[in-house]
Amino acid sequence: MDHFLYRDGQLMAEDVAVTDIAAAVGTPFYAYSSATLLRHFKLFDDALAGTDHLVCFAMKSCSNIAVLKLLGDAGAGMDVVSGGEYLRAKAAGVSGDKIVFSGIGKTRDEMRIALEGGIRQFNVESEPEMQVLSDVAVSLGMVAPITVRVNPDVDAKTHAKISTGKKEDKFGIPISRAREVYATAAKLPGLKVIGIDVHIGSQLTELEPFRLAYRKVAELTETLRADGHEITRLDLGGGLGIPYARDNNAPPLPLEYGALIKEEVGHLGCEIEIEPGRLISGNAGILVADVIYVKEGEGRKFLILDAAMNDLIRPAMYEAHHDIIPVQEPAPGEDQTEYDIVGPVCESGDTFAKGRNMPTLKAGELVAFRSAGAYGAVMSSEYNSRPLIPEVLVHGDQFAVIRRRPTFDEMINRDTIPEWL
Ligand code: LLP
Repeated sequence: MDHFLYRDGQLMAEDVAVTDIAAAVGTPFYAYSSATLLRHFKLFDDALAGTDHLVCFAMKSCSNIAVLKLLGDAGAGMDVVSGGEYLRAKAAGVSGDKIVFSGIGKTRDEMRIALEGGIRQFNVESEPEMQVLSDVAVSLGMVAPITVRVNPDVDAKTHAKISTGKKEDKFGIPISRAREVYATAAKLPGLKVIGIDVHIGSQLTELEPFRLAYRKVAELTETLRADGHEITRLDLGGGLGIPYARDNNAPPLPLEYGALIKEEVGHLGCEIEIEPGRLISGNAGILVADVIYVKEGEGRKFLILDAAMNDLIRPAMYEAHHDIIPVQEPAPGEDQTEYDIVGPVCESGDTFAKGRNMPTLKAGELVAFRSAGAYGAVMSSEYNSRPLIPEVLVHGDQFAVIRRRPTFDEMINRDTIPEWL
């Protein structure tokens, strides 16, 4: 459920008409619903009620500091994957003891930033990383709390580009080598082993792969404890999928996912962390664009928008489907037209949808891409020298620009011409 519904013939973001935001900030723009963000966070938090747990928002999905503050104030921790994300979380007021640091390529500088600023744990992904983290911690006179990310060799049954838990993927250490790797970690002076981490992929639409992975983690917990390690925390990753198309079968609910977690690892007495991103932010955001032209092609009609692949890369990168709806509610039985919906960027890949049936639209009308809150703005670029687009946060009947549109000068003046030119 989200808070982008038609009311009186108009698409609303909570109690704000999307056309009012468009009039204030221009198009294209992203708009997020506070109520939807909070609702989705709470679904996870409630699903784990009765267990000691922390829901760490995977902020790679949507990292505007206003969004982070909203979720942080509601009790969320953060899952970060870079020094930049760590500093964004801190800028949003999230305390270090609620920040977990994931990722296979943490640099010394990033480790130092997190150790100095305070960190709940590092999710370590290789032996060389362990060694470096230990060295950095020792140089600061500190001890870094760690989990080791294990790769359980489970097929997440999702798009190949976002599957991470199969043995050929670059993530984690093979679970078969876990005992050896934990023994090495335990000997390093700058590390304190506290748990196990796993993440098998994103946009999972079935629970079974989670079950297989968590069962392996539960077995490993017992084995490592028998080896003398204190395993008190399990980070179970993110990845629960969302319904991108309204008419599709909905993926499992957070409540069912929470029940599965309790079933598979509840008996171990560990503190549980999860790292959902997409399910919290995905359906909490829309991308609003203007129809610039309707162009008649050879046997097809192109709807040319002012948003492009640089603003939302998911369709070009993963053939992802996003529902695209008119901002003016279509009348029942209104004419439908089949469109190829494209952006202005000079690549054929800049296509949001092919052969999509839509109510007939004219230039100057607005459309909204649904489910654009996750991996939308965060993956945008300035390709074709198109400035990054604004982000707006809606709360009831108010809205605020939380990242403004830069001017052309701001974009261009970041470049410098050497004096010898
Ligand atoms: N934890 C780790 C270690 C991750 O790598 C990810 C996502 C998450 C948590 C959050 O997963 P989520 O709950 O959002 O599925 N750009 C792609 C998705 C990439 C996901 C990368 N890792 C897309 O647009 O579909």
